[in-house]
Amino acid sequence: MNTILLENNIKDIIKAAEMIKQGKIVGIPTETVYGLCADARNEEAVKAVFRAKGRPADNPLIVHLADFSQAEIYTSYIPDIAYRLAEKFCPGALTMVLPKNDKIPMITSGGLETVGIRIPSHPVMHEVIKISGCPIAAPSANISGLPSPTCAEHVIRDMNGKISAVINGGESQFGVESTVISFDNENRARILRPGAVTKEMLFDICDVVVDSAVLNDLADGAEATSPGMKYKHYSPCADVVMVESSLEDFINLVNENNRDNVYSLIFNGDEKTFPFRYMTYGSDSSEQAHYIFRRLRELDDMGAEKIFVRSPDTEGIGLAVYNRLIRSAGFEVIRIKE
Ligand code: TXA
Ligand code: MG
Repeated sequence: MNTILLENNIKDIIKAAEMIKQGKIVGIPTETVYGLCADARNEEAVKAVFRAKGRPADNPLIVHLADFSQAEIYTSYIPDIAYRLAEKFCPGALTMVLPKNDKIPMITSGGLETVGIRIPSHPVMHEVIKISGCPIAAPSANISGLPSPTCAEHVIRDMNGKISAVINGGESQFGVESTVISFDNENRARILRPGAVTKEMLFDICDVVVDSAVLNDLADGAEATSPGMKYKHYSPCADVVMVESSLEDFINLVNENNRDNVYSLIFNGDEKTFPFRYMTYGSDSSEQAHYIFRRLRELDDMGAEKIFVRSPDTEGIGLAVYNRLIRSAGFEVIRIKE
């Protein structure tokens, strides 16, 4: 298959919407990361999305809609708290897990009776949904297990020849995927995956708990609240090690382990005194979120075999950065107390 590169203009947006209506798959920019988009009701198209990614069939896809009012078409029950959250955070980087109805095929929901609903704010994705008239199933547009794509080139890298087209919409604003929440009861949201809609922001509206799988490895035999949490994720080819320490202790650690193809991922500013091979990934949490997946891909391209990463702050969107990094490290963390 020849994968066409489309531009961010109305003619190409209409073309992409037509392709999706016809059951084809298109890579489309969103404000979080790029998505691999198909009509969520079309079982053959959804199957092709799973195949293109090499994704396990029990890991459900998020369904993207133009407006939260359309969630009523695809779900069987929406609690009041979901409407209150939607008022504040939709459109945006929030996915709410709700009981689905039979308009969403089981294959799309990975065999679950629930569906994750998201209303993206990116104008290109929004227009494609509106013009196609389809509920759009869209996982991140990477090969399963690799870092999510934050620009069109990353999508082409992973998906060239496997999908019909990609729209080039530049770099994704946030750089990490949406916050996924479910509801424990009428008053409490549970964060299954942290993102740009932070725990602190949700807490303004309702009670919030962070699922233990956000920060910890799933115990053997335990069932994941969100299937995505049980798979190794966001991993470059290199071996990633998270380090919680002062800059001085970090430098000593890298010094002891330094050899060819060892790289460090450090904060902006650290490089002034850093004597080894490195890349920086931002000076605050928003910047770190924006750059993290790009840097992991770049380090792979440079032939990194081992990457020591300075552990990020976990406030705000930092929790999302920490969550992605600790998974890419397979939960390997070195803690050096001062
Ligand atoms: O920002 C995003 O959410 C991006 C863009 C393209 O919208 N999409 C995305 O999709 O990250 P994906 O498939 O790469 O990640 C979706 C995550 C997975 O961990 C999946 O297990 C979880 O959401 N999920 C989806 N539906 C669920 C459900 N019904 N119950 C529990 N978890 C669900
Ligand atoms: Mg993904």
